[in-house]
Amino acid sequence: MGLIRLLLTSMARVSAFRSYQFVFLIVAALAVVAFYYFGTERQNFSTTTRRMKQTQASYGTGSDVITPDRAATTNFHVLMMFTKADGNSGLQRKMRIALSSLLQHASFQDGEQLHLHFVSDDASKGIGHQALAELLVNATFNYEVRFHSVIKLTERLFPIVKAMQKHFSAGSGTYYSDAIFFLSVAMHRIMPADIKRIVQLDLDLKHRVNIRELFEEFQNFPSGAVIGIAHEMQPVYR
Ligand SMILES: *[C@@H]1O[C@H](CO)[C@@H](O)[C@H](O)[C@H]1NC(C)=O
Repeated sequence: MGLIRLLLTSMARVSAFRSYQFVFLIVAALAVVAFYYFGTERQNFSTTTRRMKQTQASYGTGSDVITPDRAATTNFHVLMMFTKADGNSGLQRKMRIALSSLLQHASFQDGEQLHLHFVSDDASKGIGHQALAELLVNATFNYEVRFHSVIKLTERLFPIVKAMQKHFSAGSGTYYSDAIFFLSVAMHRIMPADIKRIVQLDLDLKHRVNIRELFEEFQNFPSGAVIGIAHEMQPVYR
């Protein structure tokens, strides 16, 4: 039950911001996103990487690009949007609930590593980083935290999703800054090629089970599937 609930509540919402209103558009309901790369593009991933704990000796010096010897490691990638958190105590509180519950239930074996990816602006990154430093102190499994710049991701996303945005935005405009809400549908174009599978989660969740279980959903993907979509069950989106 816990897993089902997690799935249902973790669906990404694609929304468009206007000055005075939130317009919730398609409920893309993305629970699980898989990447299948065809290997042509090797893009320079514009992120700031910060390793909060050295988990394996072979990982080098903690620079931006990680090129570890991961042959023996199974990686579990989770991505969360964490932006505009500065001065937003409500969002900060939710983030702490989401992350502390995630970490509390998380369990991984030797040879496995949890990768937490955050898409953030500078101020939010600072806030997230501080919270994670506290929340991760007792973690007993291997993990890695990466913060990705929302500005740089938006820059790269916009040309890719612009055409789509037009059809899912209220009003006539295609707003540059809205492009980031389409991240889930174009992640395979902009994330590092070594990431084959990633789960995108909202931060207004409370986890009740081991996040690792969610990755079992990938076993239900037919070969060639690039995305997993589930029904949004919250009445507000119906
Ligand atoms: C870490 O463990 C200590 C000792 O058991 C506990 O007091 C503290 O609350 C834990 N911190 C977190 C973030 O779970």
